[in-house]
Amino acid sequence: MRLERLDVSHLDAVMALAEAGQAHAWGRATLAQALNDDTLEAWGAWRDALLLGYAVLAWLPFEAELQAITVAPSARRQGMAGMLLTHLVTRAHQGGAERLLLEVRASNAPALALYRQYGFDEDGRRHGYYPPVGTRGGKREAAVLMSRPLAARGDG
Ligand SMILES: CC(C)(COP(=O)(O)OP(=O)(O)OC[C@H]1O[C@@H](n2cnc3c(N)ncnc32)[C@H](O)[C@@H]1OP(=O)(O)O)[C@@H](O)C(=O)NCCC(=O)NCCS
Repeated sequence: MRLERLDVSHLDAVMALAEAGQAHAWGRATLAQALNDDTLEAWGAWRDALLLGYAVLAWLPFEAELQAITVAPSARRQGMAGMLLTHLVTRAHQGGAERLLLEVRASNAPALALYRQYGFDEDGRRHGYYPPVGTRGGKREAAVLMSRPLAARGDG
């Protein structure tokens, strides 16, 4: 397994993984923009020539945000998301961010468990933030806002 920075040349592989791995995947245009954006960095977890996971980090003033993380269904529970998250925590820390932020659907138990295991705590909720899952009826869903402090670089 290796981690490699992704760019727009990986768009097809990222798109295929996003569609296979997530109910609310980003569209192709959004993914293309993310892979081209200087304020974002995307990292992929590869096994040989196969992209099995990716995660996107956004740089904000003083903080960084995890904008996406997805692992191929066939490769889950093998530590791949943990590996990507650990790498992004290191990148954010090295880049001088004070905290790593994220938001997640309140019903996304696997992701909530992942984030808690990797040191994220809940900061609050945005009620009715996400559209319902699926196309028929359903209620909008809360976003759980989470963050993890990062030791400030060079702060004695
Ligand atoms: C959430 C997701 C990224 C986890 O990827 P993964 O590679 O399977 O996660 P890991 O193997 O690194 O798991 C690390 C820890 O997360 C937690 N976890 C992961 N999947 C879990 C599940 N299905 N149920 C409960 N806990 C889970 C566990 O604590 C796990 O540690 P353990 O295996 O030692 O118990 C993956 O399920 C996924 O791609 N889901 C769809 C996309 C998504 O929801 N992304 C998050 C959007 S905010």
